[in-house]
Amino acid sequence: MLVGLIQSRWMERLDMANASPLLDTLQSQFSNLYRAPPSFIARAPGRVNLIGEHTDYNDGFVLPIALDRAVYLAARPRADRTVRVVARDFAGARAEFSLDAITRDDKSAWSNYLRGVAWALEQRGARLRGCDLVIAGDVPIGAGLSSSAALEVAAAMALCVGAGLVPVRLSRVEIARVCQRAENEFVGVQSGIMDQFVSALARAGHALRLDCRDLTYEYVPIPRSVSIVVCNSMKSRGLVESAYNERQAECDAAAQRLGELLGKPVKALRDISLAELESKAKELTGTLARRARHVISENQRVLDAVRNMRENKAAAMGALMNASHASLRDDFEVCCDELDALVEIAIAQYGCWGARLTGAGFGGCTVN
Ligand code: GLA
Repeated sequence: MLVGLIQSRWMERLDMANASPLLDTLQSQFSNLYRAPPSFIARAPGRVNLIGEHTDYNDGFVLPIALDRAVYLAARPRADRTVRVVARDFAGARAEFSLDAITRDDKSAWSNYLRGVAWALEQRGARLRGCDLVIAGDVPIGAGLSSSAALEVAAAMALCVGAGLVPVRLSRVEIARVCQRAENEFVGVQSGIMDQFVSALARAGHALRLDCRDLTYEYVPIPRSVSIVVCNSMKSRGLVESAYNERQAECDAAAQRLGELLGKPVKALRDISLAELESKAKELTGTLARRARHVISENQRVLDAVRNMRENKAAAMGALMNASHASLRDDFEVCCDELDALVEIAIAQYGCWGARLTGAGFGGCTVN
C-alpha cells in the first residue's frame, strides 16, 4: 500500500519509486505494531553546512545544504491526546506520553526531541491530536549531520499534519523556530537555528543562505560541475556540548567588550566589522579576540562564498572553505587531529577545491 509522503517542503509528494527503501520496512513495521497502516509519512533531511560555522548564534550568516539522508516518521492520528512512538534506530525502543502533561524522560532521551516539539507547538497555541508513530532514518546519529534537528522537523510536521494545522496555520519558518525552541528550552541544548531551518526549508540542488538575525534567506544554486563529499571521521563528539556553551559565552563576552570599547550598541558579533575589531587589537587580546576574529571573518566568508557560487568560481569557493577550516582550528579551537587529517588528505587530492570541518566540531564530519 502507498501512503502519502510529506516532506519538509509542505505537501510535496515524493515519487515513491525514488524514495528510500527504508519506507517499505517502515510501513510494514508500523502496520505490525499498531495493527493498522500509517496515514502518512513525514520526512525531514539531515544537513551539512558548506560554510558559516559558529555564526548562527552570533546573529550571523550560514550556508548549509540538506543531505539526501533523512529521518522518516510514519504516523496515524488518534482520537485521544496520547502519543505512542517506537524508534527503530534505538533497537525498537518505545515511549508514550500524554499531550496534556508533557514532561522530559531522560531514560529515553531520544524521545525528548519529540516531546519537546509537541510541548513547543502547544506552547505556541496549537491544539494537537494524539498520534501513533514509528521513527526510522538514515542520517548517522552523533556525526554532526543534524539527525536530531531532522527528527524535530519531521515530528513537527507529523504532529501538525495529524492535527490538520498545515499548511494553513504554520509556515515552515515557524516550524523551524518551534523546533529550535524545543531544543533550547525542552531538550536543554543551546543550539542556533541553522539546523532546524535548513531541514525545514532546503531546496534540492541549492544551498540556503540564511541571515540568522532576521531569518531572511535565499537559495543559491550549487554549480553542476561540483560534487559535495561528506567524510565522517567516526570520532564521537564527546566534548561538544560543554565546549559549545563555552564558545557561546566567549562570543557574548567579546561582543559586549567590543561594544564598550567602540562606544556603540552591539547586540552580537554580527554588529562588528573586521576593521573595527582590528582597531581595538591593543585593548582586546587573547582568547576573546581570536573568537571574535573567527566569527567576524566567517560571516564575510559566507557572503563571499555566495558570490563565488553564483559566478561558478569553484577555486575561489574552495579557498574560502580552506580558510574557514584554518580559522576554526586556530582561532575558534574546535578542531581535532582526526578532522585535520581528513582535511589535509582531501586538499592534497586532484580535483578537490577545498575542505573544512563542518558542524560544531571536535569530531563528526568534514565537507569537501
Ligand atoms: C551545531 C548547532 C548549530 C551551529 C553549529 C555550528 O550544529 O546545532 O546551531 O551552531 O553547531 O555552526
